[in-house]
Amino acid sequence: MHHFYYRDSELYVEDVPVLSLVKEYGTPLYIYSAQTIIDHYTRFETLLEPLDHLICYAVKANSNLWILKLLANQGSGFDLVSGGELYRVLRAGGDPKKCTFAGVGKTRSEIEEALRVGIYSFIVESEEELLTIDAIAKKLSIQAPVAFRINPDVQAATHAKITTGSEVNKFGIAFSQVSELFDKCSKLDGVFLKGIQIHIGSQIQQVEPFLQAIQKVLPLVEKARQKYGAEFLDIGGGIGIVYEQAIESGREDWWKERKESLTLAQYVESILPLVKPLGMRLLVEPGRVLVGNAGILVSQVLYVKKGGAKKFIIVDAAMNDLVRPAFYDAYHQIIPLREQLDPRMEVVDVVGPVCESSDCFAIDRLLPKVQAGEYLAIFSTGAYGFSMASNYNSRLKPAEVMVSGKTVKLIRKRESYQDLVALEEELT
Ligand code: LLP
Repeated sequence: MHHFYYRDSELYVEDVPVLSLVKEYGTPLYIYSAQTIIDHYTRFETLLEPLDHLICYAVKANSNLWILKLLANQGSGFDLVSGGELYRVLRAGGDPKKCTFAGVGKTRSEIEEALRVGIYSFIVESEEELLTIDAIAKKLSIQAPVAFRINPDVQAATHAKITTGSEVNKFGIAFSQVSELFDKCSKLDGVFLKGIQIHIGSQIQQVEPFLQAIQKVLPLVEKARQKYGAEFLDIGGGIGIVYEQAIESGREDWWKERKESLTLAQYVESILPLVKPLGMRLLVEPGRVLVGNAGILVSQVLYVKKGGAKKFIIVDAAMNDLVRPAFYDAYHQIIPLREQLDPRMEVVDVVGPVCESSDCFAIDRLLPKVQAGEYLAIFSTGAYGFSMASNYNSRLKPAEVMVSGKTVKLIRKRESYQDLVALEEELT
């Protein structure tokens, strides 16, 4: 669910008309609903209450400092994959003792920094990495907490570019090599085995692949606990969200009847019987499910163009602002800010100004007829939207605002041309 809805034919975010934000801050504009994020976090937290647990929000989904701060204030931990993410979390007031650090290519300086601030655990993805962490920890005269990421070799039934738990993926330690590495690890003085982690992919809409992966690693988790004293099992993130029909028109309470393919409740109810008997601490690393439906990207229609074979709605946002449709053929619902209750519909492509044919937000989409100057909201862009934005075509990254009730906060200014060149040397 989320807090975007039509009231008197105007799109609202919480208690604020979206049009008023657009008038104030311009377009393209990312808008987030704080309450939606809090609702999702609280719901997950409550469901996990029967277990000792820690939610580590996957920072990569949306790494704006204000969103990190919002989640830190709720008590969230963080799943990191770079020194930059660690820096952001610390800046936002996050607790390093609630941070895991994953990724196949941690650099020595990233490892050292994470050790110095005392993160909860490294998520180790290879033997060489384990040896590197061991060496650095010894140099600092500390023992580093490590968890093995096991590649369970299961298919996650999602887009090929976001599956991570199959043996052809670069992630995790191959299932067959784990036992031997447990042994090696136990002989190293600079590290101790604190946990086991799996993460099989993203935008997964059935519970079965999660269960399959957990079931597959359970014997190794038991061994890690009994023989090596591991204390936590981290089952990663990956819970999918609804992109189609992210909003319905005509009603404020539309979301009460919205079908979700995999609810947090279903997810937790299914995994609990498997993980509870372990008596270990459970970690989860949700990204998309916390913030995905909490954001929209608003864009203005620049031109309507009748091409040779198609009609194009050319908007002022582009693939540099939101790359998911171009990159993964991802579907995002698009609706006008002003609801047309009896709309004349037409089939169009919604495209941006970037010089690539893949710069599109929708292809052959049935949309209400719109004209230049009107605004469109692209839904469910709170996750992997701004965090994947770039300056391609020397376009300025959009502004971001967060709404909480009636309160509006500009949480990132629109970039300027000066920002664009600030890190390049003065021309002489
Ligand atoms: N933990 C690990 C180790 C991950 O690699 C990821 C996401 C997550 C947690 C969070 O997954 P989530 O709960 O958000 O599904 N850019 C793609 C998604 C890439 C996901 C990468 N890893 C997209 O826009 O669909």
